[in-house]
Amino acid sequence: MTAVSLLQPALTSTILDRLADELSENGYCLTPSVLPPELTEQLLLEVHQLNHEHFEPAGIGRERQQQHNQFVRTDAIHWLNGHTPAQQEFLGLMETLRLAINRRLFMGLFDYECHFAHYRPGDFYKKHLDAFKGRTNRVLSTVLYLNPGWGNKDGGELLMYERDSNDPILRVTPLFGQMLIFLSERFPHEVMPAQRDRYSIAGWFRVNTSIGGAIDPPA
Ligand code: OGA
Ligand code: MN
Repeated sequence: MTAVSLLQPALTSTILDRLADELSENGYCLTPSVLPPELTEQLLLEVHQLNHEHFEPAGIGRERQQQHNQFVRTDAIHWLNGHTPAQQEFLGLMETLRLAINRRLFMGLFDYECHFAHYRPGDFYKKHLDAFKGRTNRVLSTVLYLNPGWGNKDGGELLMYERDSNDPILRVTPLFGQMLIFLSERFPHEVMPAQRDRYSIAGWFRVNTSIGGAIDPPA
């Protein structure tokens, strides 16, 4: 296994200031490549090495009421658990991001969960919100793209909308190393079908919704 980014400082305070400024101003932030390239390369290798049997069909809804609905989304997912150095480094950087955003924007982000997603040619995820006000604890979404050499003709864009509008405010080509961060409750978005296999890591920062001493997530 190749060593990942030991020397290069990632997520410097200047970068974190800019991310936080854009998030507070627009509610989203699209960064070309904030993570060390060696790390994104390694994550790409891992997702390629995971055989399809290590992926599960993606569900919709909350954990215990999960439904598999082929009309809504057809991608397959694999949760990151920190079992490899690259996953650990990625989760470590997301922890840096969590603390930095809390410090700058007082969002009270509590933890982070994320999965690899694989969209085969033709797969899609229809317009949806990652969180519904009052019904979830996901507040900030991230998507890291792992597709070298992606061209416009390959499709697979993410379209992002303001609520109650059908005109996208943002079209994101899933370019290698690019990361999108946005407020989960504010922006409906969809994934258009692609001509090629499309890989990403989708993740969510959550707030703690513990009530009456119950631990969240359950121990
Ligand atoms: C999601 C999602 C977007 C993408 O997994 O909720 O919207 O571009 N993913 O992969
Ligand atoms: Mn989503």
